[in-house]
Amino acid sequence: MSLKTKPTFFELLKQSFRDVEGGYDLLAPKFDQSPYITPEVILIPFFKKLREEKGAFDKGIDICSGTGAASVHLVNLCQKHFVALDLSQEMLNKCAMKVRRLNVEIDLDFVKADALDMPFNNEFDIAVSFGAFGHILEKDENLFIQQVHKILKPGGHFFFITTGKYVWWSLSLWKQRLFNLIIGMRNLLISPKFIMYYLTFRLPAIKQKLESNGFIVEVLDLEFLSDGFVKSDLTLIKDFKMVKAEKPVTE
Ligand SMILES: C[S@@+](CC[C@H](N)C(=O)[O-])C[C@H]1O[C@@H](n2cnc3c(N)ncnc32)[C@H](O)[C@@H]1O
Repeated sequence: MSLKTKPTFFELLKQSFRDVEGGYDLLAPKFDQSPYITPEVILIPFFKKLREEKGAFDKGIDICSGTGAASVHLVNLCQKHFVALDLSQEMLNKCAMKVRRLNVEIDLDFVKADALDMPFNNEFDIAVSFGAFGHILEKDENLFIQQVHKILKPGGHFFFITTGKYVWWSLSLWKQRLFNLIIGMRNLLISPKFIMYYLTFRLPAIKQKLESNGFIVEVLDLEFLSDGFVKSDLTLIKDFKMVKAEKPVTE
């Protein structure tokens, strides 16, 4: 069977009985054809803006890189060293293949690790993360933010996208609530748990959490070239904001 085909319903079902690491290991061969990969329509304006905001820098990390949707953009902005980090070895292998194919002449590392326990200190000028905040429980959000703060150099930045609150009649809101209800029930009944909840890591609450953990935060508008929904969760592309969180030089 061609690996260019989308994952079937049964493959997604099988994946859903595993934990996050095992689930993504199974999904990796077809992840790029799944609705869960972050689309170029978001990545292109994001990295254009990141280049405008940050200019050139030495060392960057794509946290929860998956198969490297954002890594292939970020690596082109790093002048010395690029790191992709993910829990799933199979996702990282795909990421490494794609990034290495670009033949960039900088150091590359593909690190299998938990974003809640990253093996770096004061090393990165830039950290980005896409499509993974749903895998971090709300109770772990402060820990995740502290980890990002720890791995950045003073003056380094964490850039990501998120949305604000939805109006109560929003289709996205109800679809995401329904998903959360189903996954909550699944996690009550089936072990190991698959941690994936929508409606987390959002503005304005996440801005306050970043600030209370020492970041200086700015919310930026992005110029999207097209509209429509992100397939995986029905979020309107135009509702995404870019968040720029700076680890101050002196604290
Ligand atoms: C939906 S995919 C997104 C992949 C890619 N960033 C993208 O935007 O297309 C989520 C990724 O996060 C990884 N992940 C989830 N929880 C993680 C954790 N605690 N530490 C590291 N990686 C994690 C998964 O293995 C998976 O590759």
